[in-house]
Amino acid sequence: MRRAITPGTFDPITFGHLDVIKRASQLVDEVIVAVAASAGKKPLFTLEERAELAREATLDIPNVTVEPFEGLLVDFARSKNAQVLVKGLRAITDFEYEFQMAALNYELGREVETVFIMSPPQYMYLSSSIVRELASLHSSVDNFVPPHVAAALSKKFQ
Ligand code: PNS
Repeated sequence: MRRAITPGTFDPITFGHLDVIKRASQLVDEVIVAVAASAGKKPLFTLEERAELAREATLDIPNVTVEPFEGLLVDFARSKNAQVLVKGLRAITDFEYEFQMAALNYELGREVETVFIMSPPQYMYLSSSIVRELASLHSSVDNFVPPHVAAALSKKFQ
């Protein structure tokens, strides 16, 4: 049984995240979308809200579940018997940060392998922070997030 974790803050989940999650779900038996507390980032949505938005967005992918977590990602991965961490890579700008995290996670838990999936060109520039910025300026985010996420964003910024 191959189990992968796709971790992130998901504040909120975007089509870019969903592309990575769907592609990961085709490579392994089970995917757990691990929604990190990321308190230091002062997320717009609460941990439960972010997990619920991710849950609704992944309902149509049978081998995907969503779980919020606090603490170290490698500890969470171990507790779930997951062997792989799958992360999306966008532009070169992502590389240094992701490289650092992959190296750190390797030090902390060598039994968990980090694997990267390259973003397709249409999502290279997409990020949760760009989506939050657009929504805060009352610009449409329909091309970047599922409808229930767009609705949750407009409620936050009404
Ligand atoms: O979507 P993000 O914010 O880029 O995801 C970053 C995330 C949540 C994967 C990372 O911050 C993380 O793994 N947080 C959990 C705490 C942890 O394990 N930190 C050490 C590795 S950086």
